Amino acid sequence: MSTESSYLKRTTHCGILRPEHIGQEVTLNGWVHRRRDHGGLIFLDLRDRSGLVQVVFDPEIGNEAWQTAHDVRAEFVMAVRGQVRQRPEGTENPGLATGEVEVAVTQADVLNPAQTPPIAIADTGEVDDMVRMKYRYLDLRTERMQRNLQLRHRAAHAVRNFLTEEGFWEVETPSLFRPTPEGARDYLVPSRVSPGNFYALPQSPQIMKQLLMVSGVERYFQLARCFRDEDLRADRQPEHTQIDMELSFVDREDIYDLTERLFVHLFDASIGHELPVPFPRMTHAEAMARYGTDKPDLRFGMELIDLSEIAAQVDFKVFSGTVAQGGQVKGICAKGCGDYPRAQLDVLTEFAQQHKAQGLAWMRVVEDGVDSPIAKFFTAEQITSIVAAFGAEPGDLLLMVADQPAIVAESLDWLRREMARRENLIPEGTFAPLWVSDFPLFTWDADARRWDAEHHPFCMPHPDDRELLQTDPGQVRALAYDVVINGVEMGSGSIRIHRRDIQQQVFDIMGIDAQQAEEKFGFLLKAFEYGTPPHGGIAPGFDRLVMLLAGEDNIREVIAFPKTQKAQCLMSGAPSTVAPEALRDLHIRLNLPPQD
Ligand code: AMO
Ligand code: AMP
Repeated sequence: MSTESSYLKRTTHCGILRPEHIGQEVTLNGWVHRRRDHGGLIFLDLRDRSGLVQVVFDPEIGNEAWQTAHDVRAEFVMAVRGQVRQRPEGTENPGLATGEVEVAVTQADVLNPAQTPPIAIADTGEVDDMVRMKYRYLDLRTERMQRNLQLRHRAAHAVRNFLTEEGFWEVETPSLFRPTPEGARDYLVPSRVSPGNFYALPQSPQIMKQLLMVSGVERYFQLARCFRDEDLRADRQPEHTQIDMELSFVDREDIYDLTERLFVHLFDASIGHELPVPFPRMTHAEAMARYGTDKPDLRFGMELIDLSEIAAQVDFKVFSGTVAQGGQVKGICAKGCGDYPRAQLDVLTEFAQQHKAQGLAWMRVVEDGVDSPIAKFFTAEQITSIVAAFGAEPGDLLLMVADQPAIVAESLDWLRREMARRENLIPEGTFAPLWVSDFPLFTWDADARRWDAEHHPFCMPHPDDRELLQTDPGQVRALAYDVVINGVEMGSGSIRIHRRDIQQQVFDIMGIDAQQAEEKFGFLLKAFEYGTPPHGGIAPGFDRLVMLLAGEDNIREVIAFPKTQKAQCLMSGAPSTVAPEALRDLHIRLNLPPQD
């Protein structure tokens, strides 16, 4: 036997042993999950990636092995050899896949001992997130995280298979690039050989994938790593992975169809769920009007109802005054919540105020009208109209906000989701996909006093809105779309501009003049002059999709080595300072802010 594998190497995996293996001689390699000492006998649950099985040390069967087992503790790495046998009657464990059998050990080796781990792998109790992040390699041993890693792998595999079948080529694009305009801050990498120059890590391969269309690739995809220095949330990490796609000679319908089929395949292959197609569709304007958000959660109703017309007539100045000033009054009807006591309504009011509303008007619907502190400002007829507008019945609660449209939308979107949470309106294990289309091409940046791209500046303006580019940019729609599932933006894309003149027109509106455009995107504009196919694409967020498939509510749970809220890696200590020589080589001198 060569010394490099002088230990007992596995012949099979722990988690697959079943009654059909009884009588077989097996060698297992794995970790000690649990240890129980029953006087004469010692029991270990031995674990590997496939699961765990009980192994029994009996001095009568293997005395030396039994001696070895005395000193092992949780998370020791072991090799054991023995015979698979039926568990004695009454000791079977129906909760375990291998629960009918055990291995009677004849030979055992400790391959590596372990300190008491800071995370008890065998327990399913809550562990502090900071500890999980610091000892991520241990956290990843837990059943939950092993399941998530495997699911992520299966999902990636399903994506690659599907897109390969559809004629896509996977092309890798550089991580050292120029700034790409996705609207976040760039991560910069200093160049040693070009003093004072920096690469930017791509926020997405957007420009590169468009160039690949100019190159004649026609169907590109990549599980692409994207880097964005932005505020982190449950569904945002500084680096994330996109299923990045771009196609030539397509329109929106082609991309909807492809994406729907990809998602159907992905959900089926990774969790065996049948996703219904086609996905419902809504324009951006409709989504904003009905839900106050461009990513509505369609798993429950409670749509926003516009009361502005009635509100304009009433004596209640908060309502009529707001409408007179160009504002809106909208609300939601919480079914059966008419019994909410005053204290709870105060909490909801505060909640709405935290989300920018100035106040929250409420009415409890009762048999002969409403019960509300503001009822006195309304005629009986007006009350009837309001109740009818909501389609409300006695026992319901009406919640209304008067303000400028953006604030009405934001606060009611939050309130709608909060009420769904409180009232348990969200069915478990369901998926509600949706296309949201026709986003505005531009948004007005009031601070900078200029038009910004709502998505990115390469989206094709809607052909019906070309004239408006000159007269009213805020009204121009883009041939852009998002795919939303359960209220999360799962992916985003558009048909692109493939003509240099239209691209320059869009840059002009954004205040990027010909010279700046040349400087920033000259290579792309130049490429457009050499025969560019009409093209478009989409990029579903892979981490978010896997989060959804895994039933997790933070993308950290489906990323092997994620960052904290402060974009730090608690395990490795990144980001970290570097030696002065390293900075000198890069021609960089630090000018740090004062320490708090
Ligand atoms: P966008 O910026 O909308 O579009 O990103 C596409 C999708 O990527 C996911 N995503 C993220 N996931 C985790 N953490 C983040 N910080 C993060 N940022 C985005 C979302 C989002 O829908 N180049 C364009 C796509 C295109 O036009 O083809 C782009 O990057 O699910
Ligand atoms: P006030 O006139 O400020 O005493 O408010 C009377 C009621 O109207 C209170 O229940 C407030 O919460 C509510 N209210 C105040 N401002 C708004 C608003 N902008 N939208 C909806 N309700 C409001």
